[in-house]
Amino acid sequence: MLSSLHPNLVICQNTKAHSILFTKLRDETTSSESFVRYAKRSMRLLAEDALAEFPTKPVDIHTPCGPFQGVEGPDPTTICAVSIVRSGDALLESVRDVESAVRVGKILIQRDESDPEKRPTLFYSKMPPGVENMYILLCDPMLATGGSATMAIGTLVSKHNVDPAKIIFANMICAPEGLQCMATNFPAVKIVTVVVDEKLNESKFIVPGLGDYGDRFFNT
Ligand code: PRP
Repeated sequence: MLSSLHPNLVICQNTKAHSILFTKLRDETTSSESFVRYAKRSMRLLAEDALAEFPTKPVDIHTPCGPFQGVEGPDPTTICAVSIVRSGDALLESVRDVESAVRVGKILIQRDESDPEKRPTLFYSKMPPGVENMYILLCDPMLATGGSATMAIGTLVSKHNVDPAKIIFANMICAPEGLQCMATNFPAVKIVTVVVDEKLNESKFIVPGLGDYGDRFFNT
């Protein structure tokens, strides 16, 4: 069962829109230009789904025809969207398209592509003042081994005093191995993903996956 991989997992793959868009993203014949277009459409849906997971409260409004009790999320200026550079920047921009008032933080973490088992390196992190009091929307389209996300969250917690329970990790595609790594290290972090794939291959690529998200999105 997928829910046993992580105690705080939300999967939004069951909508037809995501299924259609992901078929295009997975297809190796999809050009980089088309990949960007389908990815932006899909990430925008994910951004809405992930933002909706922050705490909500009832709100009384009036429609043109009468009173109505609705629901609202937190003030967007109390949310900091944090990108794990570089692929995270693509998802960050979709979040900002949906909610332009969010604050922004950046973390640069690099994996050693020649040795995927090696611990990644943290090069840089920059957060807005008061980030320890904000909700965090961590943005990275891919979760493979979980090494990068674990390091990013560890940095947010130890260097920027963020409470893991206030972090939502928005992710397009993940592997069971990455979810298990996150469950071991940060079970309180909620993960909102579109799809959970089968496994990682020997090169630590997600299978069946969609290849290298960053390379395809940025036409590297
Ligand atoms: C990808 C992806 C994640 C990481 C996932 O980034 O965007 O950050 O790999 O792998 P992991 O779970 O095993 O750490 P990559 O290092 O390829 O850099 P990029 O964002 O520049 O493409």
